[in-house]
Amino acid sequence: MKAADHYFELIGLHKNFGGLSAVRDLSFHIEQGKITSLIGPNGAGKTTVFNLISGQLPLDKGNILFKAKNITFLPPHKIVDLGIARTFQDLRLFQKLTVLQNVLMGLQNRKGEQILRALMGGKALTEEERADLQKAYDLLGLVELGPKSGELVENLSYGEQKLLSLARVLATDAELLMLDEPVSGLPLGEVDRMLKLIQDLVKQGKTILVVEHNMEAVMGISDWIIVLNFGEKIASGLPAEIQKNQEVIKVYLGV
Ligand SMILES: Nc1ncnc2c1ncn2[C@@H]1O[C@H](COP(=O)(O)OP(=O)(O)OP(=O)(O)O)[C@@H](O)[C@H]1O
Ligand SMILES: [Mg+2]
Repeated sequence: MKAADHYFELIGLHKNFGGLSAVRDLSFHIEQGKITSLIGPNGAGKTTVFNLISGQLPLDKGNILFKAKNITFLPPHKIVDLGIARTFQDLRLFQKLTVLQNVLMGLQNRKGEQILRALMGGKALTEEERADLQKAYDLLGLVELGPKSGELVENLSYGEQKLLSLARVLATDAELLMLDEPVSGLPLGEVDRMLKLIQDLVKQGKTILVVEHNMEAVMGISDWIIVLNFGEKIASGLPAEIQKNQEVIKVYLGV
Protein backbone atom coordinates (compact mmCIF):
# COMPACT_ATOMS: atom_id res chain seq x y z
CA MET A 1 0.00 0.00 0.00
CA LYS A 2 1.31 3.46 -0.90
CA ALA A 3 0.77 6.38 1.45
CA ALA A 4 -1.84 7.84 -0.92
CA ASP A 5 -3.89 4.63 -1.00
CA HIS A 6 -6.98 4.37 1.10
CA TYR A 7 -7.65 1.35 3.30
CA PHE A 8 -10.89 0.72 1.47
CA GLU A 9 -12.37 2.62 -1.42
CA LEU A 10 -15.37 2.58 -3.74
CA ILE A 11 -14.99 4.42 -7.01
CA GLY A 12 -17.94 5.27 -9.25
CA LEU A 13 -20.16 2.35 -8.30
CA HIS A 14 -23.31 1.78 -10.34
CA LYS A 15 -26.02 -0.85 -9.92
CA ASN A 16 -29.32 -0.99 -11.79
CA PHE A 17 -32.20 -3.36 -11.21
CA GLY A 18 -34.09 -3.21 -14.50
CA GLY A 19 -35.10 0.41 -14.80
CA LEU A 20 -34.29 1.20 -11.18
CA SER A 21 -30.97 2.83 -10.45
CA ALA A 22 -30.25 1.42 -6.98
CA VAL A 23 -26.69 2.78 -6.69
CA ARG A 24 -25.55 5.73 -8.77
CA ASP A 25 -21.96 6.85 -9.24
CA LEU A 26 -21.12 6.15 -5.61
CA SER A 27 -17.63 6.90 -4.36
CA PHE A 28 -16.34 6.95 -0.79
CA HIS A 29 -13.49 5.61 1.26
CA ILE A 30 -13.11 4.11 4.69
CA GLU A 31 -10.27 4.69 7.12
CA GLN A 32 -8.73 1.80 8.96
CA GLY A 33 -9.67 1.46 12.62
CA LYS A 34 -12.69 3.74 12.31
CA ILE A 35 -16.46 3.32 12.44
CA THR A 36 -18.02 4.62 9.24
CA SER A 37 -21.81 4.68 8.94
CA LEU A 38 -23.84 4.48 5.78
CA ILE A 39 -27.28 5.95 6.38
CA GLY A 40 -30.31 6.93 4.35
CA PRO A 41 -34.06 6.31 4.08
CA ASN A 42 -35.58 2.90 3.30
CA GLY A 43 -34.67 1.83 -0.22
CA ALA A 44 -31.74 4.28 -0.46
CA GLY A 45 -29.44 1.46 -1.59
CA LYS A 46 -27.49 0.74 1.62
CA THR A 47 -27.89 -3.04 1.62
CA THR A 48 -27.24 -3.09 -2.12
CA VAL A 49 -23.88 -1.43 -1.44
CA PHE A 50 -23.09 -4.24 1.05
CA ASN A 51 -24.15 -6.83 -1.54
CA LEU A 52 -21.85 -5.25 -4.12
CA ILE A 53 -18.86 -5.03 -1.77
CA SER A 54 -19.28 -8.59 -0.48
CA GLY A 55 -19.55 -9.96 -4.01
CA GLN A 56 -23.10 -11.21 -3.56
CA LEU A 57 -24.25 -9.00 -6.44
CA PRO A 58 -22.29 -8.10 -9.57
CA LEU A 59 -21.93 -4.37 -10.10
CA ASP A 60 -22.59 -2.66 -13.42
CA LYS A 61 -19.74 -0.19 -13.27
CA GLY A 62 -17.07 1.01 -10.87
CA ASN A 63 -14.20 -0.30 -8.79
CA ILE A 64 -13.78 -1.60 -5.26
CA LEU A 65 -10.32 -1.39 -3.72
CA PHE A 66 -9.21 -2.96 -0.46
CA LYS A 67 -5.67 -2.24 0.76
CA ALA A 68 -4.83 -1.08 -2.77
CA LYS A 69 -5.99 -4.39 -4.28
CA ASN A 70 -8.78 -4.33 -6.82
CA ILE A 71 -11.44 -6.69 -5.46
CA THR A 72 -14.17 -5.80 -7.96
CA PHE A 73 -15.86 -8.97 -9.27
CA LEU A 74 -14.15 -11.35 -6.84
CA PRO A 75 -16.52 -14.08 -5.60
CA PRO A 76 -17.87 -13.78 -2.03
CA HIS A 77 -15.56 -16.39 -0.47
CA LYS A 78 -12.48 -14.63 -1.89
CA ILE A 79 -13.65 -11.33 -0.41
CA VAL A 80 -13.99 -12.98 3.00
CA ASP A 81 -10.55 -14.58 2.59
CA LEU A 82 -9.11 -11.13 1.99
CA GLY A 83 -10.66 -9.89 5.24
CA ILE A 84 -14.06 -8.34 4.53
CA ALA A 85 -17.17 -9.95 6.02
CA ARG A 86 -20.76 -8.80 6.56
CA THR A 87 -23.84 -9.51 8.61
CA PHE A 88 -27.28 -9.59 7.07
CA GLN A 89 -30.23 -7.31 7.79
CA ASP A 90 -32.39 -10.46 8.03
CA LEU A 91 -29.63 -12.29 9.99
CA ARG A 92 -29.74 -15.52 7.90
CA LEU A 93 -28.91 -17.78 10.79
CA PHE A 94 -29.58 -21.52 10.64
CA GLN A 95 -32.68 -21.64 12.83
CA LYS A 96 -32.64 -25.43 13.29
CA LEU A 97 -28.99 -25.56 14.30
CA THR A 98 -27.53 -24.70 17.68
CA VAL A 99 -25.86 -21.43 18.61
CA LEU A 100 -22.42 -23.08 18.58
CA GLN A 101 -23.06 -24.76 15.24
CA ASN A 102 -23.96 -21.39 13.71
CA VAL A 103 -20.70 -19.84 14.86
CA LEU A 104 -18.75 -22.81 13.51
CA MET A 105 -20.46 -22.24 10.16
CA GLY A 106 -18.84 -18.82 10.11
CA LEU A 107 -15.32 -20.32 10.04
CA GLN A 108 -13.54 -20.08 6.73
CA ASN A 109 -13.04 -22.92 4.27
CA ARG A 110 -15.81 -25.15 5.65
CA LYS A 111 -13.69 -25.83 8.71
CA GLY A 112 -16.81 -25.69 10.87
CA GLU A 113 -18.50 -28.45 8.91
CA GLN A 114 -15.43 -30.66 9.35
CA ILE A 115 -15.45 -30.06 13.09
CA LEU A 116 -19.16 -30.88 13.35
CA ARG A 117 -18.70 -34.04 11.30
CA ALA A 118 -15.80 -35.15 13.49
CA LEU A 119 -17.77 -34.47 16.68
CA MET A 120 -20.81 -36.36 15.40
CA GLY A 121 -18.70 -39.28 14.23
CA GLY A 122 -16.93 -39.50 17.58
CA LYS A 123 -13.62 -38.72 15.87
CA ALA A 124 -10.82 -36.97 17.72
CA LEU A 125 -10.30 -33.37 16.65
CA THR A 126 -6.97 -32.26 15.23
CA GLU A 127 -5.07 -29.61 17.13
CA GLU A 128 -6.22 -26.96 14.65
CA GLU A 129 -9.84 -28.07 14.95
CA ARG A 130 -9.64 -27.93 18.74
CA ALA A 131 -8.28 -24.39 18.49
CA ASP A 132 -11.12 -23.40 16.14
CA LEU A 133 -13.71 -24.93 18.44
CA GLN A 134 -12.21 -23.00 21.34
CA LYS A 135 -12.34 -19.84 19.21
CA ALA A 136 -16.05 -20.40 18.60
CA TYR A 137 -16.66 -20.75 22.35
CA ASP A 138 -14.57 -17.65 23.02
CA LEU A 139 -16.64 -15.64 20.53
CA LEU A 140 -19.83 -16.83 22.19
CA GLY A 141 -18.34 -15.67 25.48
CA LEU A 142 -17.58 -12.29 23.96
CA VAL A 143 -21.23 -11.77 22.95
CA GLU A 144 -22.40 -13.30 26.25
CA LEU A 145 -24.09 -16.28 24.64
CA GLY A 146 -21.82 -18.90 26.23
CA PRO A 147 -24.58 -20.43 28.36
CA LYS A 148 -26.77 -20.77 25.26
CA SER A 149 -24.21 -22.55 23.06
CA GLY A 150 -26.32 -25.73 22.86
CA GLU A 151 -29.65 -23.94 22.32
CA LEU A 152 -31.39 -24.02 18.95
CA VAL A 153 -31.34 -20.60 17.30
CA GLU A 154 -35.13 -20.64 16.92
CA ASN A 155 -35.38 -20.47 20.72
CA LEU A 156 -33.29 -17.29 21.01
CA SER A 157 -34.69 -13.78 21.37
CA TYR A 158 -34.22 -11.36 18.48
CA GLY A 159 -31.48 -9.56 20.40
CA GLU A 160 -29.65 -12.82 21.06
CA GLN A 161 -29.88 -13.67 17.37
CA LYS A 162 -28.31 -10.33 16.47
CA LEU A 163 -25.46 -11.03 18.91
CA LEU A 164 -25.03 -14.46 17.38
CA SER A 165 -24.81 -13.00 13.89
CA LEU A 166 -22.02 -10.76 15.19
CA ALA A 167 -20.19 -13.78 16.65
CA ARG A 168 -20.58 -15.56 13.34
CA VAL A 169 -19.06 -12.73 11.34
CA LEU A 170 -16.18 -12.55 13.84
CA ALA A 171 -15.53 -16.25 13.27
CA THR A 172 -14.37 -15.36 9.74
CA ASP A 173 -11.43 -13.40 11.25
CA ALA A 174 -12.22 -10.56 8.83
CA GLU A 175 -10.67 -7.18 9.66
CA LEU A 176 -13.30 -5.06 7.92
CA LEU A 177 -16.77 -5.84 9.23
CA MET A 178 -19.90 -4.62 7.49
CA LEU A 179 -22.86 -4.66 9.87
CA ASP A 180 -26.33 -4.26 8.37
CA GLU A 181 -28.59 -2.72 11.03
CA PRO A 182 -26.91 -4.16 14.15
CA VAL A 183 -29.23 -2.37 16.60
CA SER A 184 -32.47 -1.78 14.67
CA GLY A 185 -35.34 -3.46 16.48
CA LEU A 186 -33.43 -4.06 19.70
CA PRO A 187 -34.84 -3.02 23.08
CA LEU A 188 -33.03 -0.05 24.62
CA GLY A 189 -30.68 -1.85 27.04
CA GLU A 190 -29.58 -4.24 24.32
CA VAL A 191 -28.78 -1.34 21.98
CA ASP A 192 -26.17 -0.06 24.42
CA ARG A 193 -24.64 -3.51 24.83
CA MET A 194 -24.31 -3.96 21.04
CA LEU A 195 -22.81 -0.49 20.60
CA LYS A 196 -20.27 -1.18 23.33
CA LEU A 197 -19.34 -4.46 21.63
CA ILE A 198 -18.85 -2.69 18.29
CA GLN A 199 -16.66 -0.05 19.90
CA ASP A 200 -14.62 -2.75 21.66
CA LEU A 201 -14.05 -4.47 18.31
CA VAL A 202 -12.53 -1.29 16.95
CA LYS A 203 -10.22 -1.11 19.97
CA GLN A 204 -9.12 -4.63 19.09
CA GLY A 205 -8.15 -3.52 15.58
CA LYS A 206 -11.28 -4.03 13.50
CA THR A 207 -12.62 -1.51 11.01
CA ILE A 208 -16.40 -1.17 10.81
CA LEU A 209 -18.84 -0.08 8.14
CA VAL A 210 -22.32 0.06 9.59
CA VAL A 211 -25.74 0.58 8.09
CA GLU A 212 -28.21 1.69 10.73
CA HIS A 213 -31.52 3.53 11.10
CA ASN A 214 -31.16 4.28 14.81
CA MET A 215 -29.87 7.86 14.54
CA GLU A 216 -28.92 8.19 18.18
CA ALA A 217 -26.72 5.10 17.82
CA VAL A 218 -25.24 6.33 14.53
CA MET A 219 -24.42 9.76 15.90
CA GLY A 220 -22.97 8.19 19.07
CA ILE A 221 -20.52 5.72 17.53
CA SER A 222 -19.59 7.00 14.07
CA ASP A 223 -16.27 8.59 13.18
CA TRP A 224 -17.63 9.42 9.75
CA ILE A 225 -21.07 9.28 8.12
CA ILE A 226 -22.08 8.87 4.49
CA VAL A 227 -25.67 9.63 3.52
CA LEU A 228 -27.41 7.95 0.60
CA ASN A 229 -30.71 8.89 -1.01
CA PHE A 230 -32.08 7.10 -4.07
CA GLY A 231 -28.70 5.43 -4.59
CA GLU A 232 -26.70 8.67 -4.55
CA LYS A 233 -24.37 10.10 -1.95
CA ILE A 234 -25.95 13.34 -0.80
CA ALA A 235 -23.60 14.12 2.07
CA SER A 236 -20.66 12.87 4.10
CA GLY A 237 -19.05 14.24 7.20
CA LEU A 238 -18.62 14.11 10.93
CA PRO A 239 -21.76 13.31 12.97
CA ALA A 240 -22.09 16.94 14.07
CA GLU A 241 -21.91 18.09 10.43
CA ILE A 242 -24.44 15.54 9.20
CA GLN A 243 -26.86 16.45 11.99
CA LYS A 244 -27.11 20.00 10.76
CA ASN A 245 -26.86 19.32 7.01
CA GLN A 246 -29.98 20.85 5.44
CA GLU A 247 -30.30 18.31 2.64
CA VAL A 248 -30.00 15.39 5.07
CA ILE A 249 -32.63 16.93 7.35
CA LYS A 250 -34.93 17.40 4.36
CA VAL A 251 -34.52 13.77 3.26
CA TYR A 252 -35.15 12.42 6.75
CA LEU A 253 -38.10 14.65 7.54
CA GLY A 254 -39.51 14.34 4.03
CA VAL A 255 -40.13 18.09 3.73
N1 LIG B 1 -32.13 -7.98 -5.83
C1 LIG B 1 -32.90 -6.93 -6.15
N2 LIG B 1 -33.66 -6.91 -7.27
C2 LIG B 1 -34.41 -5.84 -7.59
N3 LIG B 1 -34.47 -4.71 -6.86
C3 LIG B 1 -33.75 -4.66 -5.72
C4 LIG B 1 -32.93 -5.77 -5.31
N4 LIG B 1 -32.30 -5.42 -4.14
C5 LIG B 1 -32.72 -4.17 -3.85
N5 LIG B 1 -33.58 -3.71 -4.79
C6 LIG B 1 -34.18 -2.37 -4.84
O1 LIG B 1 -33.11 -1.45 -4.77
C7 LIG B 1 -33.43 -0.34 -3.93
C8 LIG B 1 -32.44 -0.26 -2.81
O2 LIG B 1 -32.65 -1.34 -1.91
P1 LIG B 1 -31.76 -1.61 -0.64
O3 LIG B 1 -32.23 -2.90 -0.04
O4 LIG B 1 -30.34 -1.52 -1.01
O5 LIG B 1 -32.15 -0.39 0.30
P2 LIG B 1 -31.73 -0.07 1.80
O6 LIG B 1 -31.16 1.29 1.79
O7 LIG B 1 -30.94 -1.17 2.36
O8 LIG B 1 -33.17 0.01 2.51
P3 LIG B 1 -33.65 -0.43 4.00
O9 LIG B 1 -33.22 0.68 4.89
O10 LIG B 1 -35.12 -0.52 3.89
O11 LIG B 1 -33.00 -1.73 4.31
C9 LIG B 1 -34.87 -0.56 -3.47
O12 LIG B 1 -35.71 0.14 -4.34
C10 LIG B 1 -35.04 -2.07 -3.62
O13 LIG B 1 -36.39 -2.40 -3.85
MG1 LIG C 1 -31.20 -2.49 3.87
